[in-house]
Amino acid sequence: SLSYLHRFEPGDGAKAPPLLLLHGTGGNENDLLPLGRQLAPGSPLLSPRGDVSEHGMPRFFRRFAEGVFDLKDVAQRTQALADFVAAAAREYGFDPNRLAALGYSNGANIAASLLLLRPESLTAAVLLRPMVVLEPKQLPDLTGKRISLLSGRHDPIVPVDHPPRLAEMFRRAGASVDLHWLDTGHQLTEGDLQLAAGFLAAES
Ligand code: MLT
Repeated sequence: SLSYLHRFEPGDGAKAPPLLLLHGTGGNENDLLPLGRQLAPGSPLLSPRGDVSEHGMPRFFRRFAEGVFDLKDVAQRTQALADFVAAAAREYGFDPNRLAALGYSNGANIAASLLLLRPESLTAAVLLRPMVVLEPKQLPDLTGKRISLLSGRHDPIVPVDHPPRLAEMFRRAGASVDLHWLDTGHQLTEGDLQLAAGFLAAES
């Protein structure tokens, strides 16, 4: 039941925690593998391809327009991705309780949805350029989870109030959260890589 096209790369066997890589709109399962390997050298890497196609561009959930999300689809595909991750852990033999996510843009948004709807899926997450998609009436218990939000001060896609609102939602749910503002737009910078590397090194 490995329902997503994906790549899996084993770790070096030295028990580094596994990493789930979630690409942005128009990306695919190959995009983040080099970055994941750089940031988490010994970790098993699981990298699915989003199964929604927006004019040929893979994504992890549907939207009606930029910033206007199909929330029913978000919820359904979040469940499907959580089931895929659990099945992949059994198939490949990595520890699902130590899984961290590294998600960019649409991939950061589905990682945030995993934390909100299927919190058992992840123990930590680096969210690169996330925005608020779901606002559940009932927050999960995220005690013990570590979440880092990396946002661009000049991001034309992410409304400026979204990163602090998302950070606050995670804090209210009990997670340990930090929000970093980088002097950039939606694209990633060297500063993102350094912050993400430091965060992930603290996981192992
Ligand atoms: C989304 O649709 O998830 C966000 O707008 C980010 C993106 O452009 O993919």
